[in-house]
Amino acid sequence: MSRTVAVTGVTGFIGRHIVEKLLSQGFAVRGLTRQAKKTTADNLTWIQGSLEDSAALAELVRGADDVVHCAGQVRGSSEDIFTRCNLSGSVRLMQAVKASGTCERFLFISSLAARYPQLSWYANSKFQAEQQLTAMASDISLGIFRPTAVYGPGDRELKPVFNWLLRGILPCTGNPESRLSFLHISDLAEAVYQWLMTALSEAAPFELCDGADAGYSWKSLQEIGSRIRAKPVHLIGIPLPLLNVAADISTLLHRIARKDPMLTRSKVRELTFGDWSASYCRLSEAIGWRPEMSLEQALRERLF
Ligand SMILES: NC(=O)c1ccc[n+]([C@@H]2O[C@H](COP(=O)([O-])OP(=O)(O)OC[C@H]3O[C@@H](n4cnc5c(N)ncnc54)[C@H](OP(=O)(O)O)[C@@H]3O)[C@@H](O)[C@H]2O)c1
Repeated sequence: MSRTVAVTGVTGFIGRHIVEKLLSQGFAVRGLTRQAKKTTADNLTWIQGSLEDSAALAELVRGADDVVHCAGQVRGSSEDIFTRCNLSGSVRLMQAVKASGTCERFLFISSLAARYPQLSWYANSKFQAEQQLTAMASDISLGIFRPTAVYGPGDRELKPVFNWLLRGILPCTGNPESRLSFLHISDLAEAVYQWLMTALSEAAPFELCDGADAGYSWKSLQEIGSRIRAKPVHLIGIPLPLLNVAADISTLLHRIARKDPMLTRSKVRELTFGDWSASYCRLSEAIGWRPEMSLEQALRERLF
């Protein structure tokens, strides 16, 4: 009999790919959604509700063997917005899992940002959630994934940067030597699948990246772009004061439009941080997963 996985964040960039992967591998999926319009698929059951709704969460995990918690607040102009979703929402989901009596495993999609909780509201909310979930898990087998910047079809954040790079312009938000890392969505979905297929008791947290040694500097991205274009790429440094002004304008405009901004001063501290290199070795040792897609290959084949 196929296993049933309850998944949150199914309507988002990462969750959508994870669900496609799980359905293709014969899992039954129960997906949480706040949206009225839903796509249909065999073996996919939609549960209407949010992380703020305990009854919906109880329904989501009813009869499920595993949970993949992918919903998260990635934009916002105050700490409270991140805490409410990423911390309180995750705790509420774990409470539902523990009350379910059927769920055995809980995979939390955290973020590499959780490595430095002091940097941003987002980073801190993910770190606090990791701590709380670990404290609560007891008989539930918890896994914590810390993916670095994820890209691929459906992503809206890195796509414009990569498009500019391939047109010959690379806007650089920090020291040109600072370290970045990336992960293609197909590799993340495969890692989730392999985690579900492995009886792993260690929560970790596990970092996930594409395995480029010591990550990428802005200069190495410039070189990759130049190789693919067979023409130069211009690296354009954006000074910190300008980034902060852009963040303030973005925050104001989004407030007027009653939307959550991505670019805030809190996010600028993440963007300009000097070392976002990561290592996937620990996860590889634990479940045998290895990333397949290099950034250069993905850019060359326009797999984003
Ligand atoms: N993208 C990356 O580079 C990256 C890197 C590391 C970690 N992550 C983590 O991966 C997860 C998914 O990121 P993403 O890039 O796919 O983001 P996304 O496209 O913005 O998707 C976020 C998902 O979470 C759902 N969600 C947000 N708040 C919710 C709430 N209160 N109740 C129920 N659902 C809620 C959204 O539902 P709606 O569609 O209804 O808004 C959406 O399905 C997040 O936890 C993020 O922190 C992302």
